[in-house]
Amino acid sequence: MSKAPIAIIGTGIAGLSAARTLHDAGQPVHLFDKSRGSGGRMASKRSDAGSLDLGAQYFTARDRRFNDALRQWHAEGWVDQWAPNLYQAREGQLTPSADEQVRWVGTPTMSAITRGLLGELPATFGCRITEVFRGEQFWTLVDASGASHGPFSQVVVAVPAPQAAALLPSAPNLAAVAASVAMEPAWAVSLGFATPLNTQVGGCFVQDDALDWIARNRSKPGRDGEFDTWVLHGTSNWSRQHLDLSKEAVIERLHGAFAELIDCVVPAPEFTLAHRWLYARPAQAHEWTALADAGLGLYICGDWCLSGRVEGAWLSGQEAARRLLENL
Ligand code: FAD
Ligand code: NAI
Repeated sequence: MSKAPIAIIGTGIAGLSAARTLHDAGQPVHLFDKSRGSGGRMASKRSDAGSLDLGAQYFTARDRRFNDALRQWHAEGWVDQWAPNLYQAREGQLTPSADEQVRWVGTPTMSAITRGLLGELPATFGCRITEVFRGEQFWTLVDASGASHGPFSQVVVAVPAPQAAALLPSAPNLAAVAASVAMEPAWAVSLGFATPLNTQVGGCFVQDDALDWIARNRSKPGRDGEFDTWVLHGTSNWSRQHLDLSKEAVIERLHGAFAELIDCVVPAPEFTLAHRWLYARPAQAHEWTALADAGLGLYICGDWCLSGRVEGAWLSGQEAARRLLENL
């Protein structure tokens, strides 16, 4: 009889990091995601103005293992370096802020990375898992339509902390840890202009009431499209305070803040889009790397276990896979 696969809930970078390592070690896996495609918070959104990075904007690599993975992804053509004209804005003052930091992006879109990692691995998309329970020997998952999936030998939960907590009644201690992690929201807005804006800005760290970051999408490698598209991120505070504002009002407010900050005339955009990330980043940094109940065969990973960044999410997935393999 063939071996029961390992279920992995979440096809963000953490879930796919674990999935690839388990697959490469000869373990069968099956991934689930509530979205239509992989990537989670580092997915790109297809739009009338081309593909847009609405979540993660770029990532840095400090860990040797992540640097090694990046070298491979680069050879595959999934990533490239992004060296924008960097600025910062403080108290309304926009100033150049170049630095030596190497920054990476997926090419031609952020989704290229998780799509590459997913490859031909078996996955069920558009499937929100609502229950995870263990029988005598195997795990069963239940989705929002009431359908059951299984049997699975182990489960890896790779979703944001509040969503993980809801899936962990079989492991109350792990559920309590996940429930203790607060995650901050972020509004993301994209504006597209038919005539390119007359500015040198490629990316800008903003210290403002409303805005946290702005980026010129086409300054990233491999991005094209007929519009000059920009991505604006609201600060955690502003986003929390305006969580239930309509998308139109959010676009208007962040467009206004952008127009005040940038060093050129900003006309009415031809294209607009707003996206609300409810669980954008952990409110505090944690250093669990991954969580596990090896006796049960339950493993938890995600950016919230380590650093709240792409690199941390990937390392967390590696650690979940390592611990699982160690306990086989
Ligand atoms: P996620 O990417 O959230 O993946 C979880 C997946 O699980 C999702 O695909 C989701 O659909 C799925 N899921 C959730 N619940 C269920 C369920 N019940 N059933 C099935 N599927 C489920 N990081 C950086 O390093 N640099 C940046 O510039 C940067 N900017 C950011 C800007 C914004 C606006 C946001 C939101 C994040 C940013 N980040 C950045 C953080 C980075 O995106 C995350 O750290 C990383 O992508 C998290 O990966 P993950 O796999 O842990 O989680
Ligand atoms: P990094 O080293 O480029 O940036 C870290 C922080 O240092 C920046 O947020 C910024 O405040 C500051 N900084 C870096 N370079 C600067 C410069 N040239 N001029 C002025 N300030 C500069 O990248 P790292 O550590 O990999 O972080 C990734 C980015 O992801 C950060 O910008 C972080 O804020 C962002 N992020 C955003 C989330 C959101 O929800 N909006 C969620 C998670 C991460």
